[in-house]
Parts: sequence; structure tokens; C-alpha cells
Amino acid sequence: MRAKSKKPDSQIAHAGLNPHKNFGVVNPPVYHASTILHPNVAHFEQAEARRFDDVVYGRFGTPTQFALEEAMATLEGGARAVAVCSGVAACLTAMLAYLKAGDHVLVPDSVYGPVRNFTTGFLARFGVAHDFYDPLIGAEIASLIKPSTKVIYLESPGSLTFEVQDVPAIVAVAKPRGIATMLDNTWGSPLFLRPLTMGVDVSIVAATKYIVGHSDAMMGVCVCTSASFEPVKRSALQLGYHAAPDDSYLALRGLRTVGVRLRAHQKAALKVAHWLKTRPEVERVLHPALPDCPGHDIWKRDFAGSSGLFSFTLKRDFAKPAVDAMIDGLELFGIGASWGGFESLVVPTNPARFRTATKWDAGPMIRLHIGLEDIDDLIADLESGFARLNGKTA
Ligand SMILES: Cc1ncc(COP(=O)(O)O)c(C=O)c1O
Repeated sequence: MRAKSKKPDSQIAHAGLNPHKNFGVVNPPVYHASTILHPNVAHFEQAEARRFDDVVYGRFGTPTQFALEEAMATLEGGARAVAVCSGVAACLTAMLAYLKAGDHVLVPDSVYGPVRNFTTGFLARFGVAHDFYDPLIGAEIASLIKPSTKVIYLESPGSLTFEVQDVPAIVAVAKPRGIATMLDNTWGSPLFLRPLTMGVDVSIVAATKYIVGHSDAMMGVCVCTSASFEPVKRSALQLGYHAAPDDSYLALRGLRTVGVRLRAHQKAALKVAHWLKTRPEVERVLHPALPDCPGHDIWKRDFAGSSGLFSFTLKRDFAKPAVDAMIDGLELFGIGASWGGFESLVVPTNPARFRTATKWDAGPMIRLHIGLEDIDDLIADLESGFARLNGKTA
């Protein structure tokens, strides 16, 4: 099937499959490999030239990894993709593909924490300067650009606070200046946002979340244009990253149901978000599909949907012990990092601890991932949480 020309749900079902290469087996088998044997010296000596396209060494990629990469490139409307061992590894692979000592990178203040740490730690140690910027800056980002700026990093919506970025406005500033843009598209996933079609050079997906979808494997993918593929692939190879065969298989298996799962996450999360807005204890609900979320108009313009992850803040009079009691007693929401699996999750958080370019001033924040449980059960669970918050036993 020529999956590239089909609608997203058809692509999800078929992209990257090649059963007739594998005895008619529907899913690509798992090839465990380090050494790849060559039929003769000439073939061995040509391996270096073929390492971007062929199976030449386990670390450079196996057929299972290539199938996942082909599927992700198709879904995102990219030319090719590079799968690596985690979402963070994908973020670093993309950045290191374009940065060297003496360069400058712009990073949104709402960026995922470990990418902030990489920027202020590793990159700074290796001579790459940075500035954090207001994620809502849009075209004004031009005022932050220096002659040494080589990368504008984006994440939309932002981690914890969900500001939606004006991607076309930022790309319009970057492109004529020869600055590479890369966007963490984990929340939107290929289904709800296609950054490459908006001129972004690399779309980064922490496949650990919705693509794997079952909280049992780590995986990251950089989806590239034909121009960005080589530098990104070279970066992954030089860093020694690869995508483990079993985890590539799990990611590809999860990907086949990402459309139906995401639509279910979307529906349930919207219902919970609207319900939270009616609660007197709640100060703000930060969900890109709600009109008062920063960047909501841009979300409406650019995104085709919303996923299951959002935050809300409580009124300031609630002290930590009450908030902890609210969370500790939840039955269906697990307390834990990550998101995108079938199960609901909750974490208390405080973005004010990390911000440097913008100020975050709000009541206690709680981030929810709405899973695939019954929506009314989830709301009842949260309702009992509010009773504990108010000092009552539910
Ligand atoms: C927005 C975002 N990007 C990247 C990552 C990193 O993914 P991984 O945990 O697979 O390294 C995460 C993880 O929570 C995330 O939330």
C-alpha cells in the first residue's frame, strides 16, 4: 500500500509494513543483532557507505527499527526518521546535530525539564550559549537572535503549563536566517500536529508516551526532512544511540492503535477538564482546547485535536498536606512520571522552580494524564479527592 497518500488512520494501520518480505507475517519480526555478516570482502568494505540505508551493524539499526522509522516518517509527513533509545535521547540527538562550540540556542521557558538541564549543563560545558524565551513570544523571537544563533528549539504545548507556540511565526524568523528549528511534538503526536508541514526541520516524538502507549518501553524518534535526515542520523550514530529491537517492536505495535486511543484520551480529558472548571477549589485549568489556555487560538488554528495530558491549579489557600491527601487517596490515578499509557496518572508539580525567562505565579499545580478508564469513574475518583482536600473523608 502506498501509505503516504492515505488518510492518517489508514497510515496508522499500514505504514512500515512489508509482510511479503517476511513469509506473509503481518508485523515485522524482531531481529536481535550486533554482528551482521557479509558475503564477501567487497560487501564488507562498502558497509560504511551503506550505513544510513542498510543493515550493516546492530547499533546502526535493525529491520524492526527501520520499520518503525518508516511508519513514523509516513505519519508525520517526513522524508525519513531516526529512532533512538528514549524521548530525551531524541531531543539531544536533534540539538547536537546542529550545535557546536561557540553557537547559541534559544529554548522555550516551558521546555521539558531534562532538556533544560541538558542546555544549562552539557551544552554550556561544551561552549554552547543559550537563552530561554517566553513560549508565547511568536515573531518577537527575532529580537533574541544573535549572529551565533544556530537552533531555535520549540515544544508545543509546553511541559506542565501547556502554552501553545506560534510555530509558523517562529519558523518565518528562523528560515531566512539559516537557523534550524526542532519541535518536541510528543503531546500532539503525528495525529494532531505535523510540524514538518509547517517548515520545522526536525519533529521530535517521545514515543515512550502515546506511540508505545502501554507504559512498558522507552523510545524516541526524530522525524526529518530529506535535508535534516543526514545530520540527525549522523548525530545518533556518533552518540552511539540506537533503538532496541524489542522496544522498536513494542513501539510499532502500539502505533497501530494510537488513533483510537488518542481520540479516547482526548474525549475523556476534555470532559474531566470541563468538569474541573466547575469546581470551586480550582483556580485554573491549563488545557490547550480551553479558551483561557495561553495560546488557545493558535491551538485552534494549527492542531487537529488534543491529547490526554493537562494541568490545573488549586486556589492558594490549600496547603501541601491537604493537596497530598487529595492525591494519595486517588484509586484510579497512579502517582508517577511519564504519560501516554492506557492508565490515568497524577503528579503534583511547581513550574515556578524552573522558570527563568517568565514568572510562574499560581496556586498548587497538579498534572493529570487521563487514561482509558471509564470517564465517570475518573470524575468520581477526583470528586473524592476534593473531599479530602477540603478536610472531609469521602
Ligand atoms: C514533552 C516530553 N518530551 C520528552 C520526554 C522524554 O521522553 P523519555 O521519557 O522517553 O525520555 C518527555 C517525558 O516525560 C516529555 O514529557
